[in-house]
Amino acid sequence: MAVAQTLYGTEVHVDHGMADEQFVRWAELLESRTGVVVPLARKSFLVGAVRSRMRETGCNDYENYFRRICSSATGAVEWGVLVDRLTVHETKFFRHLPSFELIEKQWLPQQLGKDGGHLHAWSVGCSSGEEAWSLAMVMHRFFSEHLGKANFGISASDVSQAALANARAAVYPVERLSEIPLAYRADYVEMVSDTTFRPVEPLHRRVGFVRVNLLQASSAPLQRLDLIFCQNVLIYFSRERRLRLLDGLASLLAPGGLLIIGSGDIGLWNHPALQRVVWPGTLAYLKN
Ligand SMILES: C[S@@+](CC[C@H](N)C(=O)[O-])C[C@H]1O[C@@H](n2cnc3c(N)ncnc32)[C@H](O)[C@@H]1O
Repeated sequence: MAVAQTLYGTEVHVDHGMADEQFVRWAELLESRTGVVVPLARKSFLVGAVRSRMRETGCNDYENYFRRICSSATGAVEWGVLVDRLTVHETKFFRHLPSFELIEKQWLPQQLGKDGGHLHAWSVGCSSGEEAWSLAMVMHRFFSEHLGKANFGISASDVSQAALANARAAVYPVERLSEIPLAYRADYVEMVSDTTFRPVEPLHRRVGFVRVNLLQASSAPLQRLDLIFCQNVLIYFSRERRLRLLDGLASLLAPGGLLIIGSGDIGLWNHPALQRVVWPGTLAYLKN
């Protein structure tokens, strides 16, 4: 793995080269454990992530580190840290507005006439929590206005413990306030300091963050969900895996439940138990 470099005429060996075959093994490990595909074109991303963690652990050999991840007693713990570096956590509040409008203006009003009561939503691949808090703001306001009580719970999950720790801490820099529509800002956030804010307490009682690997979602205690919100997660997976996971998500929906995915997450997909919901700019399906 060592690469020979010439420094002022002296040959030195530095450990920053990762052979393509070695990259393939790392990429396969990541895909088998999380579904995330890193193509060769993004090799530098994977190498940078692995190297930064190796540096922290004092390891300078890719092969030793790979073996440690795969076999040692502490491998699972180390993987838990590394996986955070190997996944993309970019997110924002109300990231895809049309999807939130569909929930607020079409789907939630349809839920009012039903018995059943309490709604259970799932934010899949929630990263640092912004998606779940946005859902909580929309659902809290709707139910407060129409029923006078908050009638919902949100489970929010991710594979990254570090992202979940940020989601639970729920303290965000003040620059991010502008992502939240004005109508929600007044009631649903409070300043923590001059430079940070947090969602207000009543929302905290509605949202729970839990580590769930989407590949093992069927064994998680999440069933008969009324709303599954899964955006910007499947895009990192192979098409075959996306299709399989979507079928799995469909089976976790309650009758009348809504699945919302990102408009770029999949092209053509249909499922015998779901029908496409028509709402501009969204990709959403209702369970019969
Ligand atoms: C780009 S973020 C998207 C966040 C949010 N859904 C949004 O649209 O803004 C993708 C998230 O998916 C998570 N992720 C990737 N693979 C996963 C898996 N197998 N199971 C659960 N979460 C996963 C990553 O850790 C990351 O936080």
